[in-house]
Amino acid sequence: MTLRVAILGSGMIGGIHRRAAILAGANVVGVMSSSPARSEEAAHAWGTEPIRSFDELAVLDADVVHVCTPNAQHVEQTAAALSIGAHVICEKPLATSSDQAEALAASAATAARVATVPFVYRYHPLVREVRARVRAGEFGAWQLLHGSYLQDWLLSPRDTNWRVESALGGPSRTFADIGSHWCDLMEFVTGERIESVIADFTTTVPHRPHPASDNSMPTRTLTVDTEDAASVLFRTASNVLGAVTVSQVSAGRRNRLWFEFDGASASAVFDQEFPETVWMGGQSQDQVLHRSPSVGSADARRLSSLPPGHAQGYAQCFESFVADTYDAVLGNPRDGLPTFDDGARSARIVDAVIESARTGTRVTVADSPVTA
Ligand SMILES: NC(=O)c1ccc[n+]([C@@H]2O[C@H](COP(=O)([O-])OP(=O)(O)OC[C@H]3O[C@@H](n4cnc5c(N)ncnc54)[C@H](O)[C@@H]3O)[C@@H](O)[C@H]2O)c1
Repeated sequence: MTLRVAILGSGMIGGIHRRAAILAGANVVGVMSSSPARSEEAAHAWGTEPIRSFDELAVLDADVVHVCTPNAQHVEQTAAALSIGAHVICEKPLATSSDQAEALAASAATAARVATVPFVYRYHPLVREVRARVRAGEFGAWQLLHGSYLQDWLLSPRDTNWRVESALGGPSRTFADIGSHWCDLMEFVTGERIESVIADFTTTVPHRPHPASDNSMPTRTLTVDTEDAASVLFRTASNVLGAVTVSQVSAGRRNRLWFEFDGASASAVFDQEFPETVWMGGQSQDQVLHRSPSVGSADARRLSSLPPGHAQGYAQCFESFVADTYDAVLGNPRDGLPTFDDGARSARIVDAVIESARTGTRVTVADSPVTA
């Protein structure tokens, strides 16, 4: 069956969704952008139909709607997609508050629709390999879980984007934008759940050009009300200590999502800018694993689509994620698919981090079991 899919948002990530959808064999039947005129432009460029209103979206009868718009649009657009019976892929953060994210997860469950969130770093084959080895008990008890996600694209006071303004991006910028990826990945790989956080935020660039939701030319100055960087200490439900630092103002770092998970028997280090290898540390011997379709766990091999030495990365993660979402729509769910429940979980962690940064106190993540 060829799935009919509609894409809301034709920016950076909308284009990546479109490509992944086509590669997964879907028919992209329409695209919506920030205005009717921009929807027509995007439709022309993509060779599809413009979606100028939710009424037009309903008429298209899409099986799957991809929500790829600025964060503040996600709730309304995802609710509209669910209300017409579509399955939904909604970009992260699922919503700009955990209450709204939970409401969307509940709506998707009630509607019995497949509803996923692109925490796509889960789809690096070597991430799956580490996860499989964790599940096989190769790491032993966790000693420390740490890492960072660093970028530099907002380092200059001249840099801006809709994400900078809380009204469009939400009350947390850097942590919700990229810290959410790191936390999802850490929980996915290690099986640990963040129970409490101590967070601190910094805004190093106090003023930027005022952004618009379509990133069109700014005409005035904005006093920045979202963080440029954050550090978060956490404890997991089984009392493991961890720490993550995120930044959008770290010169020379583009998308350096990096983790080190230290167990009693082994450590693992992964850098998503170099996803073809993972370092495995041992007390007497270390090892560098290389991605290969013929090596590792079944999951790692399944997601390894290119021969070894022909680099695969972020684009293939997106392709695998979208293909797995469509498989679930067609009744063949696969392990590891990030759902709206994971999106809501992420939003609860973000809310706890915001609250901790605001109050200067340790804050318990809402759905975590509280220990003494
Ligand atoms: N999963 C990932 O790895 C990943 C990576 C990048 C971005 N994202 C997420 O994707 C979303 C979009 O980010 P981006 O980087 O593509 O932003 P972008 O600015 O490049 O694109 C946003 C697009 O949405 C359009 N738009 C604005 N308002 C709209 C509306 N009301 N209806 C329809 N379209 C509208 C804009 O014209 C633009 O084309 C964000 O939520 C972001 O967090 C996720």
